Amino acid sequence: MIDKNPNYKELYEEVCKLYDKTKHFKHGPWDETYFTLRVFESAKDIMNKLKEKNFDKETILVAAILHDIGKIKVDMESVIDYSTSDCFDKPEFSREWRKHPILGVPLAKKIMRKFGYSEKFIEKVCCLVKNHANRKKDFIPSLNLQILQDADIIADCGYAGFIRPFLFGGKFSYANVIGSIKYIQKEKHRVEKKGFLNLDVSKEIAEKKMKLQKRLIKEISKEIKSELL
Ligand SMILES: [Fe+2]
Repeated sequence: MIDKNPNYKELYEEVCKLYDKTKHFKHGPWDETYFTLRVFESAKDIMNKLKEKNFDKETILVAAILHDIGKIKVDMESVIDYSTSDCFDKPEFSREWRKHPILGVPLAKKIMRKFGYSEKFIEKVCCLVKNHANRKKDFIPSLNLQILQDADIIADCGYAGFIRPFLFGGKFSYANVIGSIKYIQKEKHRVEKKGFLNLDVSKEIAEKKMKLQKRLIKEISKEIKSELL
């Protein structure tokens, strides 16, 4: 049965095709083909390190591939202004962005049904997709969800956290390389905010990745040590 032996590559290719059809999610700051792959691999890293094994590996990994697919339905054109960074601070942006977990549920269902997963499996995956960004204090995530949520954060650390500002630099008219280097020098990563990760093993993985990220930042900072600045 496919539930027990999912074809991850087939699912990944399917979501990549959908992201490729969009203006925002196939390249640049929101390159979901890379980010999805990193969430998938980060979830595996966490599961390999976890001592307690009462999680559902197949459900988590399928959800990792599908979790952000709702982004293709987010109305980016109405909330993004390429000439200014102010648009990210506006409530319209976060309101629209926060819709993506819910918008992803029907899309995830459609994809899984196409490949023949059982309705029970689909429900379990969709529950993770729907709640992957739910970090409300009164909400208690299952171990499956804790792993996915942590993978979603870790995927953005290390090399990914280092290159993302430069991808913004290529897409937005207000950013350039020197500006991006200065930005990464002062920006505090969200993973460093206390209490953001659910599991201790995730914290260990994140710590290692942040060390790498900081080393990279230190190295590239030397590039702009100049009397011209
Ligand atoms: Fe997300």
